[in-house]
Amino acid sequence: MSHKDAGRTGKVRKTRFPISLFFIFFGILLLMSGVHMGIIVLMNEREWHSTVQIVLPLLYWMAVALGMTLYTKWRVKKTYEAPMQSLAEATGKVAGGDFSVFVPTNHTAARLDYIDIMILNFNKMVEELGSIETLKTDFFSNVSHEIKTPLAVIQNHAELLGKEGLSPEKQREYTEVILQATKRLSALITNMLKLNKLEKQAIKPLPQSYDLPDQLCRCALQFEEQWEKKKIEFTAELEDRALIEADPGLLEMVWNNLFSNAIKFTPPGGSVTLSQTSDADTVYVSVSDTGCGMSEETMAHIFDKFYQGDPSHSTEGNGLGLALVKRILELTDGTISVRSEPGRGSVFTVALPVSREDKRYE
Ligand SMILES: Nc1ncnc2c1ncn2[C@@H]1O[C@H](COP(=O)(O)OP(=O)(O)OP(=O)(O)O)[C@@H](O)[C@H]1O
Ligand SMILES: [Mg+2]
Repeated sequence: MSHKDAGRTGKVRKTRFPISLFFIFFGILLLMSGVHMGIIVLMNEREWHSTVQIVLPLLYWMAVALGMTLYTKWRVKKTYEAPMQSLAEATGKVAGGDFSVFVPTNHTAARLDYIDIMILNFNKMVEELGSIETLKTDFFSNVSHEIKTPLAVIQNHAELLGKEGLSPEKQREYTEVILQATKRLSALITNMLKLNKLEKQAIKPLPQSYDLPDQLCRCALQFEEQWEKKKIEFTAELEDRALIEADPGLLEMVWNNLFSNAIKFTPPGGSVTLSQTSDADTVYVSVSDTGCGMSEETMAHIFDKFYQGDPSHSTEGNGLGLALVKRILELTDGTISVRSEPGRGSVFTVALPVSREDKRYE
């Protein structure tokens, strides 16, 4: 339960001091003074020695004071010391790098007080720290892996190129492999830098009103050579005009990533369709292909950094494309959705708000 949840119940107690303590002490003192009177009467009746008459009540009240002190100690321990000690122990573990700690609260959700809220917030903080730590470790291992693979390819092929008596074809082949690996490395670094800047909001989108079908057309044409080489049939169904208000440079990255994926994951002879429609408030762009498709499991992760679902293509790209797309659309008030069936193909649909300028002309 989070702080917000706890706050929502409106029952967060501001103090742990039990008012009932007054009544408990009052009751005890009343009872004990009754017993005290009884002792006095008894001692008078039996005419005990005067020293005993002084010492016995003294001892009696000492026992009462000891009982009350022990009772107060128990209450303080239960109320403050026990939760503070478990919190202190937990902070020690977190400081030592163990993020699996969980401190239980004393009260149920309906009777939370400020110490319970502090414990709940501490648990939440530790959980967040743990996930950041995992993300960081994952990020480093992913980056190292993505850098190591092309580097190994470059090293191997450079060694092969160094051998004597290589035919010109082999030389060309090895050079091409090295070139591809360097391109992959440079794409990795570029995408990582872009993603980092977008996440830090260092790139501020510069929205302007512009014609989307025109941009889609230009981006698609850049892939002409690729779809022709793979004998993929490319079809575009676009409106004549659709104004949107967005940063054209950022959206260009979105379209390029969607086209490159569609072409990459579609086998030769397949088809890729780009379609763009709009209604009063939204412009929709969908890129569909008849490629390998994705399982539900893969679809759940495609927007994660470095995730690559299809192992047969993992030598191409670094799994950063869709993470970039997602981030750009978050900054542009757009959304992206995907439908896919393994073996049949995929449809990526982007929705963007219509430009206000366009609405005015309606
Ligand atoms: N059109 C598609 N058809 C089938 N699978 C797809 C499609 N688009 C994306 N995927 C799956 O989503 C994964 C992540 O895509 P993403 O674009 O982020 O990475 P990538 O294309 O592998 O690498 P990069 O974009 O960095 O070159 C892909 O590896 C693939 O498994
Ligand atoms: Mg991609």
